[in-house]
Amino acid sequence: MNLAEAQQLLERAESEAATAAEAAAELEELVELERRYVGRRSPAAQVTEAIKTLAPEDRRPAGKAVSDYKAAIAAMLERRREAIVASQAGGGPKGERLDLTAGGHGRTRGHLHLVTQVQRELEDIFAGLGYRVAEGPEVEDDWHNFEALNIPPAHPARSMQDTLYVRLGHDEQVMLRTHTSPVQIRTMEANEPPVYVVAPGRTYRNETPGPRNSPVFHQMECLAVDRGITLADLFGTIEVFVKRLFDDESVRTRFRSDYFPYTEPSAELAVSCIFCHGEGCRVCSFTGWIELGGCGMVDPNVFEAVGYDPEQWQGFAFGFGLERIAMIRYGIDEIRTFFEGDVRFLAQY
Ligand code: DAH
Repeated sequence: MNLAEAQQLLERAESEAATAAEAAAELEELVELERRYVGRRSPAAQVTEAIKTLAPEDRRPAGKAVSDYKAAIAAMLERRREAIVASQAGGGPKGERLDLTAGGHGRTRGHLHLVTQVQRELEDIFAGLGYRVAEGPEVEDDWHNFEALNIPPAHPARSMQDTLYVRLGHDEQVMLRTHTSPVQIRTMEANEPPVYVVAPGRTYRNETPGPRNSPVFHQMECLAVDRGITLADLFGTIEVFVKRLFDDESVRTRFRSDYFPYTEPSAELAVSCIFCHGEGCRVCSFTGWIELGGCGMVDPNVFEAVGYDPEQWQGFAFGFGLERIAMIRYGIDEIRTFFEGDVRFLAQY
């Protein structure tokens, strides 16, 4: 379809709709006309669908033609509706007037939770970069949550203070996963390299709830394993995803040396504050930077744990909190609001 054909299609549909609206005698017929002329399979929808195939300079006029068309249809149906209502209002039995113009009680529609929205958006960004979405269980064993990630038995992260243990048998340690990193292990155990996955999901820590802490929260993990992967690939990937996520080309990323047992070298990942652009404000505690998570090059010990040859394969990984991202994006300062289920809060987003 070209621009001229699109305009012609809409013109023809509009005049046909005008004739049909004039002929309508019942309100139900108007609903049907609305469906036919502006609904999902209407000429308006066809043209909208075709816009992306048009020459760039034709897209704007085509878009305008669709919106003019929709406005014209809406106006003619409304005019007809008023006429029908007026003719019916006087028609019923004496004293029994049905006011069809009175507003009804609209049914409110729900929508996805804010964290789910952020998660899906991130999945889309990474799908566009060639990543697959992986999942793992929320109740994990010691091997996947710690051991295979090169976290030795005496590591402080294992202490009862951080980890919520679920005791089943006597010797097997079962716990609520403290991060999404075990999904790295599960993915590598089940697949030969190369691997490109993101793993979003719920994570748990034995923390006292506070404005910034919640015993349950969400993370997203990213793992890339291939031949010849370098730190530059990690930096480049993070740069791209951060810019897309915040829809802002001027956001900068910062990496500072850090320590994680499963990566070497490791870094803390921060982005320049999207509110003050690095000047310093309340959201970034006047530092100009907001910490998102951790990252690094997959430690050879991790590859060995899953049976990959570290001489042949290299990889990077990173992980960050999803609530954190939603909080930054929407300026929310209480993590607990995500879990309280208060519709007055959730409905805003
Ligand atoms: N698992 C870390 C956490 O929960 C985040 C993290 C750091 C994930 C470095 C990674 C990584 O994949 O390489 O804080």
